[in-house]
Amino acid sequence: MKILVATEKPFAKKAVDGIRQIVEGAGYELALLEKYTDKSELLSAVADVDALIIRSDKVTAEVIEAARNLKIVVRAGAGYDNVDLVAATARGIVVMNTPGQNSNAVAELALAMMIFMARNGFTPGTGSEIQGKTLGIHAYGNVGRLVGRKGKAMGMNVIAYDPFITDSAVFEADGVKKVNSVEELYKNSDYLSLHIPATEQTKGSIGYDLLMSMPKGATLVNTARKEVIDEQGVMKALTEREDLKYITDIAAGIQSELNEKFGRRVFATAKKMGAETAEANINAGLAAANQIVDFFKNGNTRFQVNK
Ligand code: 3PG
Repeated sequence: MKILVATEKPFAKKAVDGIRQIVEGAGYELALLEKYTDKSELLSAVADVDALIIRSDKVTAEVIEAARNLKIVVRAGAGYDNVDLVAATARGIVVMNTPGQNSNAVAELALAMMIFMARNGFTPGTGSEIQGKTLGIHAYGNVGRLVGRKGKAMGMNVIAYDPFITDSAVFEADGVKKVNSVEELYKNSDYLSLHIPATEQTKGSIGYDLLMSMPKGATLVNTARKEVIDEQGVMKALTEREDLKYITDIAAGIQSELNEKFGRRVFATAKKMGAETAEANINAGLAAANQIVDFFKNGNTRFQVNK
């Protein structure tokens, strides 16, 4: 069995060493394609592999077509919107993610981003504190929960909305108040932390109306996906309301335009960096390798997302 780690944004060395140990320890071969800059490199690297470990790397129908022996793809991370599930399923390829493994890194960044905005982008001048403010969490999955718990620990009043979690006890266990609609969530949040996946339903769903409904001085924090944002709508709201702020670790499609227009009220990191910690790399990378070995040796499909 040949397992390829294809990462345009590579894992930390320690994570790669750990993946190698797991793969070779199981008697399989490991191949590495890191920092590739052209799709053609990925297309030729996948030609003879049985399994693929990726991060945000795009596994398109073309990649799947080129990978004639491919049996399993594991996205080391949470979001699998970068994998063409229809094409993979049509070929009988199992697709998995590694839920929860890099969540803490993203949650820490979300909280850090709130403080960064509250303190004027770490520039001189009077800022504000996040303690006592209301933090709204949009989608209460692995990352959302950690943001909620950390927000509580910082003295924030935490509310959350998740259309897929109807049991209030899930929220109450963290001292978080469940609200019943997206509208109620945004209307009451001084800080809104986004954790929805990018799906056909969510793409472009966060824009003008929701932002305009937020309290005075509110901040939208996006460590999810840029596709869920209606950028034109966000720009319109930021133009009409000079008190609103927006921060993201997803380089916005119109980032320079945003910075030019809104100065310190908008901040976008140069590269997607929520899960960029050594710990998250190790957790997610090793989980991916273990899941592949467990799949080949025991047929375990627990984390399959295209069942
Ligand atoms: C995820 O979906 O797990 C995060 O967005 C991390 O993505 P990355 O592996 O590209 O940093």
